[in-house]
Amino acid sequence: QNLPGKTAFVTGGASGIGLGIAKALLGAGMNVTIADIRQDHLDSAVAELDGGERVLAVQLDVTNREQFAAVADAVEARFGKIHILVNNAGVAVVGPTELATFADWDWVMGVNVGGTINGIVTMLPRILAHGEGGHIVCTASMSALVPVGMTTIYSSGKAAVTSMMECMRPELEPRGVICSAFCPGAVQSNIADAGKTRPADLAETGYAEADKRRASGGNFMHLYQTKEQVGERVLEGILNDELYILTHAEFLTGVEERGLATTAAVQTHLPENPEYKQTFAMLFR
Ligand code: NAI
Repeated sequence: QNLPGKTAFVTGGASGIGLGIAKALLGAGMNVTIADIRQDHLDSAVAELDGGERVLAVQLDVTNREQFAAVADAVEARFGKIHILVNNAGVAVVGPTELATFADWDWVMGVNVGGTINGIVTMLPRILAHGEGGHIVCTASMSALVPVGMTTIYSSGKAAVTSMMECMRPELEPRGVICSAFCPGAVQSNIADAGKTRPADLAETGYAEADKRRASGGNFMHLYQTKEQVGERVLEGILNDELYILTHAEFLTGVEERGLATTAAVQTHLPENPEYKQTFAMLFR
């Protein structure tokens, strides 16, 4: 990827990880659009990025498909073409699975998975149409790869977007669009405030008490990576065409164990069917 002068679009780009990614891409010479549901985040992010004409800030709720298309039109009107899409906007609930309401599931899946789907359906045809190549990054999470208790809704949504990138990668790479799943461990951000943008019709939560306990459980932010660190990591992953962009060496054992566990579970005592293998050769590496 030759990034200078090209254009990136980062959802949830006005805070935390998205802002870190926007900063790194701006630093690499790109035009950057930050799209975010929160105008106050957009205002402070524009000041922090200080990128002049190369930064466009737009208000967008990623669950709103019409708004997504209108925003894509506006970005193309301003910068011409979109080359990098970062589906990063996300929210979270944490707690015992049995306490989750339908609204808890619908809210988190709607933003984290639905928002990503909306990004792909809106942007992919536009990226393919200009033929200059591109990149799609989805911010998933280390919890998509390493089992973490009490995060069923969040982690299964992150596994979904990781899988989207895994599926799209071989399909789109020959057409010049690279797909990457960004799976960080904990990063300093405002995600604990995510409830502030929760829609009224999805307000009914089973986690009100759990959230209160969590809020009083101490602040561990100093143990987390910074948005700048992970932003640079994403830039490196884009420049190297990495499918999996991971951080945090603390998770190495967990990632390894998952790979070993799935490897050990494959039914190797039965012989392979050569015809099956040959007929569907594209499935087997
Ligand atoms: P953050 O809250 O600092 O930033 C997320 C931004 O997304 C906010 O500015 C928020 O206003 C925006 N947003 C929320 N809902 C939106 C919607 N419907 N439409 C448009 N924008 C919306 O949080 P953070 O942590 O930077 O989160 C970014 C992504 O990183 C999320 O997908 C999150 O799940 C993921 N992540 C975060 C980790 C962490 O430790 N902070 C670890 C792993 C993944």
